[in-house]
Formats: sequence, structure tokens, C-alpha cells
Amino acid sequence: MVINSFARMISNDLSIDLGTANTLVYLKGKGIVAEEPSVVAIKEGPRGERKIIAVGKEAKMMLGRTPETIVAVRPLKDGVIADFEITEHLLKHFIKKATTKRSLLRPRIIISVPSGITPVERRAVIESATTAGAREVYLIDEPIAAAIGVGLPISEPSGNMIVDIGGGTTEVAVISMNGIVYAESIKVGGDKMDEAIIQYLKRKYNFLLGESSAEKLKMEMGTALVEGEIKTTEIKGRDLVSGIPKTQTINSIEINEALSIPIDMIIETIRRSLENTPPELSSDFLDKGIVLSGGGSMIKNLDRLIKKETNLPIIVAENPLTVVVLGCGRALDDPDLLKQVAVLGR
Ligand SMILES: Nc1ncnc2c1ncn2[C@@H]1O[C@H](COP(=O)(O)OP(=O)(O)OP(=O)(O)O)[C@@H](O)[C@H]1O
Ligand SMILES: [Mg+2]
Repeated sequence: MVINSFARMISNDLSIDLGTANTLVYLKGKGIVAEEPSVVAIKEGPRGERKIIAVGKEAKMMLGRTPETIVAVRPLKDGVIADFEITEHLLKHFIKKATTKRSLLRPRIIISVPSGITPVERRAVIESATTAGAREVYLIDEPIAAAIGVGLPISEPSGNMIVDIGGGTTEVAVISMNGIVYAESIKVGGDKMDEAIIQYLKRKYNFLLGESSAEKLKMEMGTALVEGEIKTTEIKGRDLVSGIPKTQTINSIEINEALSIPIDMIIETIRRSLENTPPELSSDFLDKGIVLSGGGSMIKNLDRLIKKETNLPIIVAENPLTVVVLGCGRALDDPDLLKQVAVLGR
């Protein structure tokens, strides 16, 4: 017991939101110490050996702009780990960055994982974090972490619905008494929205837009409901017929049309989850509403559209991008909560 509390004092315990789009790190006693894209740039040697040349923000700038020998990759895709080795590098990078000096003891690390990942993937995350220097690794399901981060009363015997719209997945979960009563995870999130914009422009204008530009366009002009003044903007890409660079004018109605496919899939999932929730719990949503988190929840008017479709109050988390890592952080500070919601990986 004494050793345990001493260990807590001298180790730099961390929580990590290992997301498809962004990785965030919370250091106990300090707050969020890293918030960067989950991107790694790799240089390939003549014999196929791989050398990491950049991680995070710097690597994201390289996406789609590298010469042949360098690739900028996102090791997590659709909410799952697509490349274990690179994910391990990503974790190592962030753990090292967060635990620089004065760590006498290796850290305890809480990592949030999508609720839909397989046991094999769970093992891989635990192993990566252990190799990357963790003393103990705990896993928390992402929607539970988000619910704690938002401050929902998840330990009470009442229904809480959280919809986390990330880069790779949208997770809808109903939580009561610290556990998931019902959950659905679909591989539709911010990435699919970007892709929908790219496909729309290809089909309508034979125009090729890069991934980063599509994301920027979504953030600036994306809307789930069109109303009021129609906004117009110019985007730069390539004409697919002539092959030469081109500027294209596009308006907010068109972006709304493109986004409606992934957004409808998200709403469909929310509807199905409502239907599958036991009535004693779903009646709680009438007062408490549905809480939205994750970067994708920041699409303009998405809350209003979901309200229109479900007739329930919709609350967007105050800081949708950080709730998951903060929720894990709260569990680091509260051993009882940690015991209730996390799984210790061995
Ligand atoms: N203002 C905004 N409007 C619309 N989308 C946004 C906005 N800001 C960020 N996003 C999108 O949010 C997504 C990233 O969200 P988030 O960081 O929650 O995902 P993640 O946790 O990395 O992914 P996942 O949980 O699926 O593994 C990206 O697709 C990004 O384009
Ligand atoms: Mg996430």
C-alpha cells in the first residue's frame, strides 16, 4: 500500500486517446501535454527498411506531398490498427515526449480504444504500450471515456447516451452503472465525410481534390442543414479530363449534399440504438438528451439535424476533441473509478 502510493508520487502516469485522426496525451497533475495528428512519416531504404522521420503535426503536413521514398501514413484506420509496428512508434514517440525528466518509475498508462476492436487488437495495443515503456496498461472503451470526460453521471442506474463521432468511427453507446448497456460502432466518421466530398466533386465536376483540402473544406463550409445565406468558395485541385490544375467554385448546398450520405448513416445508427435500448433507460433520454463528442460533432448544424430527426435534446460536448483523454485522465486520478471502468491488460 505504502509502496503503491509512493510509486504514484514518483511515476508520470499518463492517459492516451489513440485516435484514428488525433492522438492526445494527458499527464497526471499537468493536463493535456500533447495533441497531434496520428500520422507518421517513414523513409524507406533500398532494402525495404523503414526509418521514422517525423511524427504528428510535422508528418501530417507531408501527407500527399512526399517523394517516392518517403510515405506519410496513418497507422490507424477506420478506428482499428492497420499497422502495428508504426502504431508502436507513434505511442513510443508520445510516451517519450510526455515523460521526459524525473520519471523514476515507468508510467501507468490508460489508453482509450474503440469499443468495437477485437481481443487481438486489444492485446496489440497493450503490447505496444508495454514495449513503449509502460509499467501497467489499462484500457477503457472510448465511449465510456468520453462520457466520463463530459461529466455524465455514468455510475447511476440511469441511461446516458453518448455519440462519439471521430475520424474513423462513430460510436453510439448507452451507459448505465459504469457499463455499456448497448453499443454500436460504424466505420463512418470525419474521414468518410472527407471522402464523400472528394467523390462528389469527382462525379459532378471531374475534379480531383486532395484529402487535406477536402478536410479543410468540410470544417469551413460543411453543414448538416442548409439555411440562410448560401456560401460560395473556390477550391484548388486537378481537372480529371485535362490533367491540369484547376480552380473550382463550390457552394454550401453542394457540400451539404455530399455530406448527407455519411451523416444519414450516423443518424440511422442513432435511431437503431434508440430502438434497441431498454425502455426504462431510453425514457431517461427525454430529459437528459443525447450527448455528442468527437471532432465530427463540430459539423455545423449537426446537433439541430439530429434533434429534428429524434425529437430529443442534443448537447454537444464543450470541447469535443479532448473529452476522451480527459475522461481517461479522471480515471487515473480516481482508483475506484478506474477499477469500475477499465480493464487491466496483462
Ligand atoms: N470544426 C470541425 N468541423 C467538422 N469536422 C471537424 C472539425 N474539427 C475536426 N473535425 C474532424 O474530426 C475528426 C477528428 O476527430 P477526433 O479527433 O475526435 O477523431 P479520433 O478520436 O482521432 O478518431 P476515432 O475516435 O475515430 O479513432 C476529423 O475527421 C476532423 O476532420
Ligand atoms: Mg476518438
